Amino acid sequence: MTDPLHVIILAAGQGSRMKSNLPKVLHAVAGKPMLHHVMDTARALGAAGIHGVIGHEAEQVRSATPNQDIQWVLQAEQLGTGHAVEQALPNVPDNARVLVLYGDVPLTRSETLEHLVSFVSEDSLGLLTMTLDDPSGYGRIIRDHDGAVQSIVEQKDAGQAQLAVREVNTGILAVSARHLKDWLPQLSNRNAQGEYYLTDIIAMATDRKVRVEVAQPGNVYEVQGVNNRQQLAELERWFQGQIAERLMAQGATLLDPARVDVRGELVVGQDVIIDVNTIFEGEVHLAEGVSIGSGCVIRNTRIAEGTIIHPHSVLDGADIGPGAEIGPFARLRPGATLAARTKVGNFVEMKKAVIGEGSKVNHLSYIGDAILGRGVNVGAGTITCNYDGVNKFQTVLGDKVFVGSNTSLVAPVTVGELATIGAGSTITRDVTAGELAVARGKQRNVPDWPRPEKKS
Ligand code: UD1
Ligand code: CA
Repeated sequence: MTDPLHVIILAAGQGSRMKSNLPKVLHAVAGKPMLHHVMDTARALGAAGIHGVIGHEAEQVRSATPNQDIQWVLQAEQLGTGHAVEQALPNVPDNARVLVLYGDVPLTRSETLEHLVSFVSEDSLGLLTMTLDDPSGYGRIIRDHDGAVQSIVEQKDAGQAQLAVREVNTGILAVSARHLKDWLPQLSNRNAQGEYYLTDIIAMATDRKVRVEVAQPGNVYEVQGVNNRQQLAELERWFQGQIAERLMAQGATLLDPARVDVRGELVVGQDVIIDVNTIFEGEVHLAEGVSIGSGCVIRNTRIAEGTIIHPHSVLDGADIGPGAEIGPFARLRPGATLAARTKVGNFVEMKKAVIGEGSKVNHLSYIGDAILGRGVNVGAGTITCNYDGVNKFQTVLGDKVFVGSNTSLVAPVTVGELATIGAGSTITRDVTAGELAVARGKQRNVPDWPRPEKKS
């Protein structure tokens, strides 16, 4: 059995350069707070414990993160990264392997971290570094003549020669809890910033003949921290680019991979086509051959084979069968369940509506709390009056019902199969199968009527 992995996530800092009332670590990448990305990564690594070190706006961070599996630690004063990690140690068992991550470094791949953690033992630790053209701002990795890592020197404490070093500390490291519990209390804050530097444990490790093994991320964005909104936007674009590449590898055509945004999990079948400026949120499944028109926003929805969603449709919590056609400008709300070959046209809103195979609601309608059979045709401007201000009521239309345009169906109401509703009707009573129901004012024609005229 390997020793348990405990992940300590530092998130106590202020983040003043975000210029925001929202704590920095709660700013979202791909619709999810940065801190939650890091926590999900910790879970993906199989962490036995996840420790969130919070300070600035601690309550806001904590309450935005209700998960039971997080152990919160308050770092009342931000005295440095070493001090921050130390606060979590009482909750970490001695035999643990500890991985230190940051709430504002959201996109590190779990593969990169797994590799880093594999270096942890009694006589070695893992340090994640990278080499930059412009290393300014970062702690520099100092190596000896044999290339072994000796120490990390912070920018503000570095001399000329050290400043020239281009290999830098990402901040992410993995080390045994025993070593941390031994070393962190020995840190001093006699340095340029008067802080207890986590980075000083590297020199301690060298002194005590604990080997420092170095790993590098596959991409610098994996270790890119966010200090301002521009960096947040850069990470968002990189992450979206990664998702777009994956979708294309799975057989989806993206008309412009830079203009699709996925804020959640998008599962695609082969030959899915996604046009520009589309947004996917939550869990979305697009089966083989589904086509999504430009400007659609699709959330927590399943769409079966070959269905076409025309431009500017907004779908939330819908379930759509194969060969259907939706939009343009359709709005499907939670509980819209559409069978095969259904058609929903422009300016149609549906909520909690079960629509049978081949049925059509083509124009300007509201269908809520309704069950429609197969082959139903709902004319333009039909409204289910499902709400009396307090309660919701259901409308049921049998197979092959034909509803004339501009009809109000005052629920609860049931229309039997093959019945026909005359245009402009307000239907308040049930209609039996095969009947024609007409419920509208009778037309009156007044001959030779003198139309009022404007006086000039
Ligand atoms: C740190 C590293 C530096 C590395 C850089 C990478 C140290 C001393 N230096 O520098 O070598 O190149 O990260 O970005 O570790 N935090 C707390 N409590 C504290 C202090 C910090 O939670 O008391 C958190 C901050 O919220 C932040 C992170 O730790 O998310 C890093 O702290 P910061 O002060 O920004 O360290 P750097 O100066 O960037
Ligand atoms: Ca920083």
